[in-house]
Amino acid sequence: MKNIAKICLLAAGLALLAACGPVRTVPSAGLAPEISVIPRPLKLERRPGELLLAPKGAVILVPPGDVEVRGTAAELADRLSRCTQAAFRLAEGNSIPAGVSNAILFKKAAGLAAEGYRLAAGPEGVTLEASTPQGFFYAVQTLYQLLPPAIYGRTPDTMVRWVVPGVAIEDAPRYPWRGLMLDVSRHFFPKEFVKSLIDDLAMHKMNTFHWHLTDDQGWRIEIKKYPKLTEIGAWRADRENKPWNEREPLKEGERATYGGFYTQEDIREVVAYAKSRYVTIVPEIEMPGHCMSALAAYPQLSCTGGPFTVPPGGVWPIVNVYCPGNDETFSFLEDVLTEVIALFPGDTIHIGGDEVDKMNWKACPKCQARMKAEGLKTEEELQSWFIRRIEKFLNSKGKKLMGWDEILEGGLAPNAAVMSWRGTEGGIAAARDKHDVVMTPTSYCYIDYYQGRPDVEPPGIGGYLPLSKVYAFEPTPSELGSDEARHILGPQANLWTEYVPTTSQAEYMTFPRLAAMAEVGWSAKDARSWKDLTARMTAQYERYDRAGINYARSAFNVECTPSIDPAAKTMIVRLETETRNPDIRYTLDGTDPGPKSSRYAAPLGIDRTTILRAGAFENGKLRGAITETRFTVHKAMGKPVNLTHPYKDAYAGGGPFGLTDGLRGTKSHIDGRWQGFEGDDLEAVIDLGAPTTVSRITAGFLQNLGAWVFFPESVEFAVSTDGRDYRVVGRAANLAPLDAGGTMMKDVSADAGKAAVRFIRVRAKNIGLCPPGHPGAGRKAWLFCDEIIVE
Ligand code: ACM
Ligand code: ZN
Repeated sequence: MKNIAKICLLAAGLALLAACGPVRTVPSAGLAPEISVIPRPLKLERRPGELLLAPKGAVILVPPGDVEVRGTAAELADRLSRCTQAAFRLAEGNSIPAGVSNAILFKKAAGLAAEGYRLAAGPEGVTLEASTPQGFFYAVQTLYQLLPPAIYGRTPDTMVRWVVPGVAIEDAPRYPWRGLMLDVSRHFFPKEFVKSLIDDLAMHKMNTFHWHLTDDQGWRIEIKKYPKLTEIGAWRADRENKPWNEREPLKEGERATYGGFYTQEDIREVVAYAKSRYVTIVPEIEMPGHCMSALAAYPQLSCTGGPFTVPPGGVWPIVNVYCPGNDETFSFLEDVLTEVIALFPGDTIHIGGDEVDKMNWKACPKCQARMKAEGLKTEEELQSWFIRRIEKFLNSKGKKLMGWDEILEGGLAPNAAVMSWRGTEGGIAAARDKHDVVMTPTSYCYIDYYQGRPDVEPPGIGGYLPLSKVYAFEPTPSELGSDEARHILGPQANLWTEYVPTTSQAEYMTFPRLAAMAEVGWSAKDARSWKDLTARMTAQYERYDRAGINYARSAFNVECTPSIDPAAKTMIVRLETETRNPDIRYTLDGTDPGPKSSRYAAPLGIDRTTILRAGAFENGKLRGAITETRFTVHKAMGKPVNLTHPYKDAYAGGGPFGLTDGLRGTKSHIDGRWQGFEGDDLEAVIDLGAPTTVSRITAGFLQNLGAWVFFPESVEFAVSTDGRDYRVVGRAANLAPLDAGGTMMKDVSADAGKAAVRFIRVRAKNIGLCPPGHPGAGRKAWLFCDEIIVE
């Protein structure tokens, strides 16, 4: 992500554990609410009774001689002992001895899927069955979720009832790849955090950690042969006090102090830790683009020779890239990859490949000579040749190459796997061509996007990806036949970190959306149910609380969906959250709602200009943020708007009636209320339908320089009785200096003199191009309007 500015229970009669006998299974909707396993198991049946673990404790029996399973069992014993303060002791054994009532048995069972397991619990004890250590590990993760959320706490809790409900579970994942990507280049995250994130992945039965180790803004992995990669490439000017896209480069004589990197020792430690959690790490070394941090250290690897510095913020387009005409580029990359391969035992190396601007290749004699020598007709083919050459090297070392979907352009390397991010089309094409695919389209998988209304979220890159939308993701496109669909390895959530400077912010962006993604990757397609997930999330939030995970409460924010009844000049407003049975309280007088404010029970009718504030409460406490919606009831509400230049669909601001829907925008340009015009003027004519006495006309505008949104150069208001002859009633200009900075909203008004008119015309002149000195200088400027109010 770089440039967003443009920017169960199934069939009946399953023979489960022999010890339990055949069980009757019930449809998924029967999942008892007090059982919350996330991701949802394939089959789950309630059984009578429960097992009380504390204060008696239990013996934990492991397969004799199996060191790896014993390790998993020992962790279970440690955690149970710590949290319950009861005694849990490890022993070897293949069955629960007669007369022992408190036992947890790990039992080898041939024939189960590698990551699958069975779990049976009742008053007689718990039996976990699997054919592999990984299966046992996942059985234990499920056992934790059958216990009270306090099992995720770091301190004892003797106040809760430590029981495992009677249950029979049979489980296995849908996809072999269930991933999370963390970008540690845009902001560096220490190894301790990476390890904690790997714990969190394991809790969600996710098995792949894609470590985005290099990018323009920082090189994060020690390479012994090229020490300058981290001496120079890991450090940049500290501009953390400025918005990402407004950061000037390192100045002459300035020290680069912001950054960090992992030593090879650190990497080995994290890899070993991940292995113990059954998480495979896929390292990403970006090429041929997104490599300014490497070029700052070794500028001779570029087409121009530099010099370069590590950019402290956004760069676009990505023109400073490796030179494929230079043989030294390949000896460098092969040396780097050789050290990377030695550190990461997984079979896949990600080489990036995204967003390369080939401008410098076009002008570079070495690149052009390479194209001639290799018979390459386009620069896209040159990139494809580059990737194929790297693939040959990786394959010779026993590794598979994976890249972003741009590696399809110019022809896919013979054995490459594709990570489809610009939608699913690249993934579909690759799967049809029998290449493996990880699905991570921005619209469902980019968890750097906002997860709630932007005006109450911390500043982000843009986009909108609430929990429910992550959950709605289907990784296998319906276009694929079953042979092709086999190539879809699974889904992945990606956390790019341009706007994520801290570990707590990284957790905030990741949770709870990782829970939804985990279920997308693990659970059977037809076992997924949003309503059911929201019920199970209640316990998941408690687990996050106990584990100290800084999860977002955005799902508790009250969303307001209004619809207009123009005839009645009334707005019908529905309030909802992404949580189960929310207790929504609201006010209409601009004050903050409390637990005793009006309770929302049915859609509200709003027939006057007002501010609605709403929040969701639990046990008298506000859970999310208070959200505010400003309604302006006026004479043009619901009236048709005729635009000379269309708005851009990405900023439709409510669509054709967006300028007369009575809804005001917030300071966030992506709140869905603002209508955006790229390079064009706003020229709107509103037909009031009949002669109407009009005293005042107002239009609302936004300026946000970081998003390339500028106030209009001038605004003109005019009225007409026939739609042909207009009388200008007001003009305004100089709404704010162009360099005023920050984000501003401004209403501009004109007095219409109480005339009886039918047509209202508003012309707002776009400044056209971003002015000199602005990061977008010379490119089209945006003009944003939220409402034209007629009184
Ligand atoms: C990407 O987001 N550029 C892969
Ligand atoms: Zn070149």
